[in-house]
Amino acid sequence: MEKLEDQIKELKERRNAVILAHNYERGEVQDIADFTGDSLELARKAATVDADVIVFCGVYFMAETAAILNPGKTVLIPDPTAGCPMADMITGAQLRELKAKHPGAAAVCYVNSTADVKAECDICVTSGNAEKVMSRFPKDREILFVPDQHLGSHIADKLGVKYVLWPGYCPTHARLTAKQIADARAAHHGATVMVHPECPREVRDAADQCLSTGGMCAYARNCAETEFIVGTELGILHRLQNENPSKTFHPAAQLTCPNMKKTTLDKVRDSLLNMETRVVVPEEIASRAKRAIDAMLAVS
Ligand code: 13P
Ligand code: SF4
Repeated sequence: MEKLEDQIKELKERRNAVILAHNYERGEVQDIADFTGDSLELARKAATVDADVIVFCGVYFMAETAAILNPGKTVLIPDPTAGCPMADMITGAQLRELKAKHPGAAAVCYVNSTADVKAECDICVTSGNAEKVMSRFPKDREILFVPDQHLGSHIADKLGVKYVLWPGYCPTHARLTAKQIADARAAHHGATVMVHPECPREVRDAADQCLSTGGMCAYARNCAETEFIVGTELGILHRLQNENPSKTFHPAAQLTCPNMKKTTLDKVRDSLLNMETRVVVPEEIASRAKRAIDAMLAVS
């Protein structure tokens, strides 16, 4: 029996497919991917990729974004139950209600949202470009920021403004505490602490750097520091360690996103073999959601 990795390689060629993987995926899934990145890098890649089929190893909203950007391509997700609980904390109907209460306000969504919610928004942001995108709004403009209260408050603090924040959050990052950061600092004296903006405010305040997963990879690669405490999902340690073999990375806590871990090599193989599960977004929603994603890609 051929190795799983070889079966995937063969099927990939047969289908003229590319495999995209998020930085939180299992190490072995990142290793067979053509490209691994954060949500901004993956959206950019999905917009330009030259293939008939995209196998998206990540959570559903990411595959949905790839499908919206590529109406002519087949986008497959190896496990369609890999959702993002934060994305499901607001619906399109709830956002429409909020907009009705704030006429004239701009609606901004974190890409960790459903296509339905994106379709209601003026622009999207990712954690990698949120500051840049949001700095373009006049300071006195009313902004509805959904669904992540933590990314929203992080950017509002940085820009010295206030947003109407939806109370959504990431259950994985919400588990990280300032005490865990303090304990990790005590155990690894002098290490640089990097956390994700989805972390609660007291955790962000306790860190040295607050960065997207792609931002963490770039920072670790380019800085002179050699030891890091990493406050985000464990999957990123695989890439950080591979790209920086002479540097040391300690997890701030054992943070796992169960949905990111649903994708296995078997499921990637089966997905290419059976051409399942196709991610299809109804045209009416896709075209409106695409406007918000394109607006973001044009700025960043
Ligand atoms: P990044 O945009 O930093 O990859 O984050 C996506 C995500 O889901 C973090 O939980
Ligand atoms: Fe969603 Fe959090 Fe998982 Fe990211 S880590 S996909 S925000 S649940």
